[in-house]
Amino acid sequence: MTEIVPGGATSASTADLLIVPVFAELTWGPGAEATAEQLGPWLNGYLEAREFSGASGQIVVVPGGDLSFGSVAFVGLGEEADAEVLRRAAGAAGRLSAPYTSAATTLHLVDVEGAIGAVTLGYLLGAYRFDEYRSDPKSRVNERLELLDATDAAMAQIQDATAIARGVMLARDLINRPAADKSPEVLAERARSLGTEISVEIVDEVDAAERGYGGLMAVGAGSTNPPRMVIMKYEPADAKPFVAFVGKGIVFDSGGLSLKPAKGMEDMKTDMAGAAAVYGAMQAIAELELPIRVLGVTPLSENMTGGAAQRPGDVFAAYNGKTVEVLNTDAEGRLVLADGLGIAAEAEPDLIIDIATLTGAAKVALGPTVGAIFGNDDEAIAAVEAAARFAGESMWTMPLERSYRSLLDSPVADMKNIGDRWGGAILAALFLAEFVNERPWVHLDIAGPGRADKTEHYVAKGGTGFTVRTLVELAREMVKKG
Ligand code: BES
Ligand code: MN
Ligand code: ZN
Repeated sequence: MTEIVPGGATSASTADLLIVPVFAELTWGPGAEATAEQLGPWLNGYLEAREFSGASGQIVVVPGGDLSFGSVAFVGLGEEADAEVLRRAAGAAGRLSAPYTSAATTLHLVDVEGAIGAVTLGYLLGAYRFDEYRSDPKSRVNERLELLDATDAAMAQIQDATAIARGVMLARDLINRPAADKSPEVLAERARSLGTEISVEIVDEVDAAERGYGGLMAVGAGSTNPPRMVIMKYEPADAKPFVAFVGKGIVFDSGGLSLKPAKGMEDMKTDMAGAAAVYGAMQAIAELELPIRVLGVTPLSENMTGGAAQRPGDVFAAYNGKTVEVLNTDAEGRLVLADGLGIAAEAEPDLIIDIATLTGAAKVALGPTVGAIFGNDDEAIAAVEAAARFAGESMWTMPLERSYRSLLDSPVADMKNIGDRWGGAILAALFLAEFVNERPWVHLDIAGPGRADKTEHYVAKGGTGFTVRTLVELAREMVKKG
């Protein structure tokens, strides 16, 4: 991974690549004017010929000429920069920097609060690649990024942002890994190395059945890879607030006997993005040593069609005792979450947050990059909204419409696992609400933003690690409020 370091003056840097910001209509940002002057009068014509105007998202590399830098990258920031604009610009720069051993930048000198963190995070995430399965990965030699003219105080901000970036990249790696290499058993073991301060309990299928994790067992029944419940605790001595994160961990979702069509299955190794986000966030929170108690619960299961698979019409009892008639085995996320939420509620945290690639309906409603927020507590919803906004993750609150609850009424059990056609994301949320024992709870449906269909700014095609940044920010805010 590229190391980000506070640097000195531009003239003293020995980096190969200089990255400088430009605002709309070729208005030079910090460090760009002097660089442009030194490069010479040809520059403006060159940039114009490449239709570079300084719009957000643009980036152009030119030879360094008489400068000590071999190359100079101009990155566009548009009319006005905020933290997200900086993250995105830094992301583009991070991706482009692959062939340069060392880079230097003035991007963080743009007048935006938290600029150093934004540039660090964007750059590291933009540089991310998933190459584990390539026989001949494209080389990336970039070892260092200097933040020019940075004060000593920059180091702490760099370290914080780096810890968060590592959490996001861990989540991405797990999401991108093929399902064959992340059985519930394997994924559960991975949770053991999130940090020495995090205790990990792995409940196997025998104990899970004994404890009454009926939803997890029902979904796991169709796979030769047995399910696991992972229960993690981060409990620093001086911690006051207490939050629980519950992440959907379906390592592959075939739909079960209510089988998905082939197209619908292509991306279903990413159906454990919620669990991955919990791992990434807990790793980052522990690395940042935030004084908050965190309970992490990730039900891990594979949704398959084996001979022992649950059938439409089968009934199970969830951990909290409520019974569920399963009419569609492809609505499996809510079944494993029922147990996960039950475990979390039993611990009586101040707040429960679940994260799940739960419904295609949420993706239909909000598109590919916006997450859906639901919850039973306005204050908790507002706190998550604020954390998401600050972290630069796009989310929108949807109604937990209680009048729809009767659509989940079952003729044989306490509820069924599907409603009718409309409002699918709301019905899923209403289902989950049955398992939180009325505690403050927020549900994040990330079916859209959990994975990206294309590479842009600091996001690479594939698993995104969406919500890791929001969860860490929320933990920070809970610590501040005490
Ligand atoms: N994992 C899917 C949801 C999903 C779909 C995530 C597309 C990402 C992209 C979930 O388990 C599922 O299959 N949901 C069904 C629910 C339905 C049967 C009520 C859906 O959304 O179609
Ligand atoms: Mn499904
Ligand atoms: Zn699923």
